[in-house]
Amino acid sequence: AIDLTGRHFLKELDFTADEFRRLIDLAAELKAAKRAGTEERRLRGRNIALIFEKTSTRTRCAFEVAAADQGASTTYLDPVGSQIGHKESVRDTARVLGRMYDAIEYRGHGQGVVEELAAHAGVPVYNGLTDEWHPTQMLADVLTMTEHSDKPLDQVAYAYLGDARYNMGNSYLVTGALLGMDVRIVAPSLLWPDNTIVELARQLATASGARISLTENVEEGVRGADFVATDVWVSMGEPKEVWDERIALLGPYAVTMDVLRATGNDAVKFLHCLPAFHDLGTDVGREIHERHGLTELEVTDEVFESEHSVVFDEAENRMHTIKAVLVATLGAR
Ligand code: CP
Ligand code: NVA
Repeated sequence: AIDLTGRHFLKELDFTADEFRRLIDLAAELKAAKRAGTEERRLRGRNIALIFEKTSTRTRCAFEVAAADQGASTTYLDPVGSQIGHKESVRDTARVLGRMYDAIEYRGHGQGVVEELAAHAGVPVYNGLTDEWHPTQMLADVLTMTEHSDKPLDQVAYAYLGDARYNMGNSYLVTGALLGMDVRIVAPSLLWPDNTIVELARQLATASGARISLTENVEEGVRGADFVATDVWVSMGEPKEVWDERIALLGPYAVTMDVLRATGNDAVKFLHCLPAFHDLGTDVGREIHERHGLTELEVTDEVFESEHSVVFDEAENRMHTIKAVLVATLGAR
């Protein structure tokens, strides 16, 4: 049996393929139990700290609802309301929170911070997104893919279009490589993942049987794909000034109906971790609209609202998969 008690989740590759799949199976079980009204509360009396140095809707709410469903309590530390990294070192914060809490979630900038927390907390630490990785998001994406495909995971093909030099691109590349999937990174080569990550993925692929490709050619990249995924072109923490360059580089990589048709697969599904710029009626969106005259960016509203889109299943699955991480790492008494 696979026992994940006490484990950190700092990046996808903290887990073996079997462990990763175990979390997906557990998430599916927990989802079914919640729907059936038979969920057992396995985290009664547990306390979980949620540190957010960047903003969040899904990740924060997923942790809070997952914990509440399981009988645990949470404390939310917002991007300005704690001493961490400002008045107090990460190491000291880790040792303090580790005395009070059973686990700590951290969202922020460098991966080094979440690693430092984990090194000193003495309790499980979970990465709720760093510049480098978004591992809890990958659990939700893989669960969503299993729900929307009849094929076994190792026969599923997905293409990620857009900025691949950041958390989502990196995470898609290594996750598919770990699980033996067919992964296509479709982006201008300037925005491909760092060479060390590509090498890592290629090594994993040798063991898992994954097919890995990186291409600048959209048609070639998406041909035969079961899923097409994208993410925002500029991420949290990046300077506003990069928008102009990204829009110029990534325009041809926007997910349109033509891109979906180019898969040759009528049943192709669209994934996006969200938030998405499919209509620019938001604060940031209005500014971009004024400067560039665009109304949609990485995905068209038509695709986002189409039958191909499974983004709200994906968003819901954040909660079930994060619950699986909590139960697997903290559930045993
Ligand atoms: N996908 C995701 O992580 O969303 P939030 O930024 O809202 O948490
Ligand atoms: N790449 C995005 C993902 C948001 C969930 C960001 O880091 O802002």
